[in-house]
Amino acid sequence: MASITLKINNKEVSVDVDPKMPLLWVLRDVAGLTGTKYGCGISQCGACTVHLDGNPMRSCILPVSAAANKSITTIEGLSDDNSHPVQQAWITEQVPQCGYCQSGQIMAAAALIKRIPQPTDKDIDSAMQGHICRCGTYTRIRKAIKTASL
Ligand code: FES
Repeated sequence: MASITLKINNKEVSVDVDPKMPLLWVLRDVAGLTGTKYGCGISQCGACTVHLDGNPMRSCILPVSAAANKSITTIEGLSDDNSHPVQQAWITEQVPQCGYCQSGQIMAAAALIKRIPQPTDKDIDSAMQGHICRCGTYTRIRKAIKTASL
């Protein structure tokens, strides 16, 4: 066990955990931020995506010690009231079906829009590659990313 200070959604949080514990479990079970989802646990589905210093990161394979002193943003911290352009576009285009993968999809899309405000189809394919949706909402995800970039 070790005491690790994290900056989650602009708040400093001190946690007493095994430094090797994946960040995902610290977010969900210690910090109580359950918007970030567990899908596969082996970096294959994207459900656990958060931002680390603004870059998309799969939190299921990242030891919490690697996130110390970095800025972590979860879906709860993307905006206070679902007002982020990507969240608004997700609502406009009615993207989710079951919804389970959508926080990871939104975090990946938000990082993309920040990096490339008007992404091409190729940019979207590249950024969203490996973000699995069992309901197959891919067409609406692409449409929403285009809507968010207008
Ligand atoms: Fe992390 Fe699937 S739960 S990529």
